[in-house]
Amino acid sequence: MSLPKVLQNLRLPVVGAPMFIVSGPELVIAQCKAGIVGSFPALNARPQHVLDEWLTRINIELDQHKKDNPDAIVAPYAVNQICHGSNNRLMEDMATCVKHKVPIVITSLQANKDVYEAVHSYGGIIMHDVINIRHTEKALSMGADGIIAVCTGAGGHAGTLSPFALIPEIRKIHDGLLLCSGSLATGGSVLGAQAIGADLGYIGTRFIASKEANADEGYKQMLVDSAAKDVVYSSLFTGVSGNYLAKSITAAGMDPNNLPEADKSAMNFGSGGNSDKKAWKDIWGAGQGTGSINDSPSIADIIDRMESEYKAAKVRISSS
Ligand SMILES: Cc1cc2nc3c(=O)[nH]c(=O)nc-3n(C[C@H](O)[C@H](O)[C@H](O)COP(=O)(O)O)c2cc1C
Repeated sequence: MSLPKVLQNLRLPVVGAPMFIVSGPELVIAQCKAGIVGSFPALNARPQHVLDEWLTRINIELDQHKKDNPDAIVAPYAVNQICHGSNNRLMEDMATCVKHKVPIVITSLQANKDVYEAVHSYGGIIMHDVINIRHTEKALSMGADGIIAVCTGAGGHAGTLSPFALIPEIRKIHDGLLLCSGSLATGGSVLGAQAIGADLGYIGTRFIASKEANADEGYKQMLVDSAAKDVVYSSLFTGVSGNYLAKSITAAGMDPNNLPEADKSAMNFGSGGNSDKKAWKDIWGAGQGTGSINDSPSIADIIDRMESEYKAAKVRISSS
């Protein structure tokens, strides 16, 4: 099946994944100008009315860029909605998205019929993130247009299934838009995701170590200094299992090799959990792809490099 129209003209088959705190207008605009989809969680715009300001700015800057560079590939942007009872802004944020006709909405945690109807009312598309087949079936039955498989090794809240297992299983029940995430950090890994059946790669951690990301310089440097072995999977910090940089856990005064299990009653997606250190702010999320990050250049430079790697990987494979 062909890609939805809105995704047919990308420079590289990549969506920049939404990241709590890290993704704001600078990052999104840079990603779209570089030719990949940029996205941010609506909850990053605080208080709620700031979402309207961010969307206005993104639309104006991207429209201007298109006018100034008529031949450039400018990708669409996406807004991430956390569909969970703890998000009391959800429908207000949706009304703002409808006002701006946000081209793509990414839903996380629960598939939500009201959100889906709102997005479809103006012709937008929904991509829902999942960690297993049960979540996939549920989202598809509610009308999701695309599925994002959040596989093992992904930054932030992540699943435990290998993409080599999950992507083909999803393909058995869904021939539409499918994205693959978890540790993708190079152009070669994007081609790998396509080789196993995904249409697009969904990448978070690589973009934290960029000039435009809203992240502490120490966080960016820790990504450069860390490898896959330095990523710890724990439910302690938010009540949901996710991947974090071991060195940030140590810096917060805890032993990353001896973390207690989370108390589910303390589930809190934004922060907190069972320690006085805040997830995302003090305990830094990262996927295992951190081992492929060696610098923090601009998004334009990262995408130039990824595109060369992607093309080189294609040549390497087709000549082997
Ligand atoms: C610091 C951080 C914050 C994140 N915050 C969110 C979020 O607010 N909403 C969401 O749907 N996913 C969030 N994610 C998950 C990403 O959208 C994406 O699934 C993940 O980064 C992909 O794996 P990778 O980091 O290995 O590329 C976050 C990931 C990181 C690293």
